[in-house]
Parts: sequence; C-alpha cells; structure tokens
Amino acid sequence: MSMFQDIERVLISEAKIQARIVELADELNALYDDADLPVLVCILKGAFVFLADLTRHLDFRHEVDFMEISSYGAGTTSTGVVRILLDLASNIEGRQVVIVEDIVDTGHTLDYILRSFTARNPAGLRVVTLLDKPSRRAIDVPVDIVGFEIPNEFVMGYGLDYSEQYRNVPYIGVLKPEVYREGLGIS
Ligand code: PRP
Repeated sequence: MSMFQDIERVLISEAKIQARIVELADELNALYDDADLPVLVCILKGAFVFLADLTRHLDFRHEVDFMEISSYGAGTTSTGVVRILLDLASNIEGRQVVIVEDIVDTGHTLDYILRSFTARNPAGLRVVTLLDKPSRRAIDVPVDIVGFEIPNEFVMGYGLDYSEQYRNVPYIGVLKPEVYREGLGIS
C-alpha cells in the first residue's frame, strides 16, 4: 500500500511551490549581496526541503546552518513550550541572519527563536517561511517573506510531517481524516 493513498488532496502542487521559490529567492537576491555573507538558518526538521531548494536559487554568497526546535506536546498543535534540540554551529554575532521556516502557525516557535537570536546580537535578522497560517496566530511575530498563506488545515509534505512521516512528499497535501483517527498503525 502506497503512502500516497493516505493523502486526501493536494493543497499546493509541486509546480506551484517550485515557481514560488524562484520568486522568494529573487526577493532575497534583491536584499543581500556577497559582502553581507548571510547565514541561512534552517529550522529542523520541517524546513530542510525548503532550504535545499531555496539555497540553489540564491545568487549571493551565503552560509547555511541548522537549528532543531521542538515544541512539547503530542498531536498536531503546538503548546507554546519550546526547546532547542540542536543549536547553531556558527556564532551569529554581527552577522546577517535569515531564518528559514517551513510554516508559522501559532508563532510560538518563531517567537522563541527570534528572542534567542536577538540575544546573540546579529547585525540583521529576517524571516522567510514557505507557509503561513495567520488564522492560528497566538503571538505576534514578524515574518518578512511568505510563500503561501494557507487556511487552518493540517498540512503535510514538502518537509512537513504527520507523526514524523510524509516529509518526502513533493507537494503540500492534506491527509484523509481516517489517517488521524486510526493513526499510522505502527507500534
Ligand atoms: C513546526 C514547524 C515550525 C513550528 C510552527 O515544527 O516546522 O517550526 O511547528 O508552529 P508554531 O508557529 O505553532 O510554533 P514542529 O515542532 O512540528 O517540528 P518539525 O519541524 O521537526 O516537524
């Protein structure tokens, strides 16, 4: 049985994502040049696919780094309690930093990251997210560049998971309700 049978519908197609990423990269290309040497920080795990595609459309010198954040609490909603599982390898003091997220939902994760990064005194800090769910925002967070605003649906694919799976699906999709009801049947 294919994992694709668990998917009810495609919300954003692979072609639309890829076309939009070229536009997002162009926005960044207009903001930075080689002398800035920004650090693009991929927020793991969800943003790894987005970062991989985005970085290949950038025409200025940059570095990439990774940070893994987890929100406590099971299920499909974030609780607001956030912790760092993996911190940056680089020192961002005095550096231009671009946070790369897959989705901003309640805003708790991004708020935590912004406060943590601001305390490290970067020269500049911007946020790019592929997806934004403004209807779910619990805390006001500044997002500079947004790929797609989406409705309040639980989405997966293109880096986003359900129960750690489906990150490899090349589009943003919505799972069939019975997948949540019955779980993935893996013990
Ligand atoms: C997701 C996503 C964001 C965060 C957004 O990460 O990648 O970091 O939730 O939610 P918020 O705005 O409500 O805080 P998740 O904690 O699911 O971890 P993952 O990226 O490893 O799947």
